[in-house]
Amino acid sequence: MIESLRAPAALSGIVTLPADKSISHRYAMLAAIATGTSVIRNFAASRDCHSTLACLRALGVEIVQSGRSVTLEGRGLRGLRAPDRTLDAANSGTTIRLMAGILAGHPFESSITGDASLARRPMGRVTEPLRLMGATIESRPGELPPLKILGGRLRGIRYRLPLASAQVKSCVLLAGLYGDRPTAVEQTVPTRDHTEIALGQFGGAVRISGNWIEVDPEPKLRAGRLSVPGDLSGAAFFLAAAALVPDSELTLPGVGLNATRRALVDYLVRAGVDLTVANESVQGGESRGDLRVRYCPDLFRGEFPPIRGALTAALIDEIPVLAVLGSQASGGIEISDARELRVKESDRISALCANLCAMGAEVEERPDGLSVRGGRRLRGADILTLGDHRIAMAFAVAGLAARGQTRIQDAECADVSFPGFWAALGKASGRI
Ligand code: S3P
Repeated sequence: MIESLRAPAALSGIVTLPADKSISHRYAMLAAIATGTSVIRNFAASRDCHSTLACLRALGVEIVQSGRSVTLEGRGLRGLRAPDRTLDAANSGTTIRLMAGILAGHPFESSITGDASLARRPMGRVTEPLRLMGATIESRPGELPPLKILGGRLRGIRYRLPLASAQVKSCVLLAGLYGDRPTAVEQTVPTRDHTEIALGQFGGAVRISGNWIEVDPEPKLRAGRLSVPGDLSGAAFFLAAAALVPDSELTLPGVGLNATRRALVDYLVRAGVDLTVANESVQGGESRGDLRVRYCPDLFRGEFPPIRGALTAALIDEIPVLAVLGSQASGGIEISDARELRVKESDRISALCANLCAMGAEVEERPDGLSVRGGRRLRGADILTLGDHRIAMAFAVAGLAARGQTRIQDAECADVSFPGFWAALGKASGRI
């Protein structure tokens, strides 16, 4: 499917966001290994979270979906059933890496794989600690999926994360539930802490001391009734769009504002975006609030703050749209320490550079990032998304700021994290 866009007069109204993908995955997985019936309200309808539910069903978990609520019958910590087929994580890195941690604690053999994009993504980052814990894992050469996992009782370990990754941290913490002693993970760069929070909500014991996060094995996880906030990473596209299109004003209610994710809000405010937060509350240990963003004509004078170091890790999923936004600042934007972007759903550094160049921006590609010169109005172009949802949505935003028509190829890939994205954009820009 191709979506065509042109600069709208303005964006306005209320945008209903999809539920947070990261939190939805974790609630579903923990509900599956808890005891009792969990009800998760506002569960993400994204394709990635559907993949997690499909894997859990194949492992014997009874799941009923009714509207945006999901009810899961927990099977207990060691109660998952050996699957009779290969588990399919499709496009979802979070599904394969977190599920690997849970499967490693089960005494049966299982295989888990995904689509062509996932089959190219590195799994050594999870197979290495899981093998240290005693799991037997086979993979394709280069530690690529499928992963064949034979698990059982594991050894608790103390593990220093070799990279900033919430997926790896979460995989080890989940496997730690099946250890013979506590498991601790050291992170040198903080990443999203939804697993730590969710484990506490389901009755697990998590201790945090400095950079170390420790979990106790054999917790008595009990079912929960939880509700998922809106996805801040999905909100990012609308925040950027309203900042770019003159006379825009958008309200985004109920957005997740977890401290390890809200770097996006702080960054945009620091860059000069007219963005305010109201009605903050905490539910299930996760903060949420309403965002209001307004176009501000002075925004693009000067340079956007550089993104590097720990900030890169904190903004990792928002970098595609921030690169687009920063391209319109007169001083451009510098993004570094972002090598991880090369092994996301696509090589996002290369996809960003190729598509920004196609739209007339001056870009320098580096192994760990990019530098966008800035000050040039974009022109409409044909965008190659490589089937990557965040590239598709980032360049939809670019299309709203460009002269002429922009055509987004494989636009349906937005469903991976944001089903209804094109309709929401059409509605906000008065096209629907
Ligand atoms: C996620 C962690 C991040 C992020 C991904 C979701 C998670 O990946 O990019 O979209 O839910 O834990 P990494 O752990 O690979 O950085």
